[in-house]
Amino acid sequence: MKTCMIFYSGTGQTRALATGAAEIVGADLVEVRDRAEYSKTTMYLKGVPRARRGEEAEIEPTEIDVGAYDLVAVGTPVWAGNPTPAANAIIAALRNCEGKRAVAFATSGITPGETLEKLSKALEERGLTVSGTFHASAKDLKKGDGPERLAQVIRSASSA
Ligand SMILES: Cc1cc2nc3c(=O)[nH]c(=O)nc-3n(C[C@H](O)[C@H](O)[C@H](O)COP(=O)(O)O)c2cc1C
Repeated sequence: MKTCMIFYSGTGQTRALATGAAEIVGADLVEVRDRAEYSKTTMYLKGVPRARRGEEAEIEPTEIDVGAYDLVAVGTPVWAGNPTPAANAIIAALRNCEGKRAVAFATSGITPGETLEKLSKALEERGLTVSGTFHASAKDLKKGDGPERLAQVIRSASSA
């Protein structure tokens, strides 16, 4: 099953998780860039209110064609209990995604809040079927088995 993993990462945690899992399952990776180019301060001052409002960022690439894939995994850091504006924009940027399976994943300091529910709902509204979700806190990520655990979720979503 061909898998595409698409993610945004502000400080590198989600990137490390996605890169490791993609290597294990043999997925293609797309990292999007938020054109706001937040600093650590503006992530809180500007990014958090935008995440709370469910806004979509301006991202690059602006369109992500997943027509060649069977499964699409979308990942985000948690900002104030929500998906990042970049993750909201990833879902809007998907092309040829109807009928595909999906996995939603997130990394957080402590807890995902409503992130996975909101990401899953948005994916379903674009016509994908969410067959698995995954969250890793900072404590989980320290253990080092996050990529393997996310890879397992992707594998079982592929065979569901
Ligand atoms: C602006 C901002 C808001 C955050 N909000 C939360 C939160 O509500 N809950 C939480 O557990 N962690 C929160 N965190 C921690 C991040 O979700 C966590 O460090 C995540 O792994 C960062 O992923 P990244 O390195 O891919 O950007 C926040 C971090 C930032 C920078």
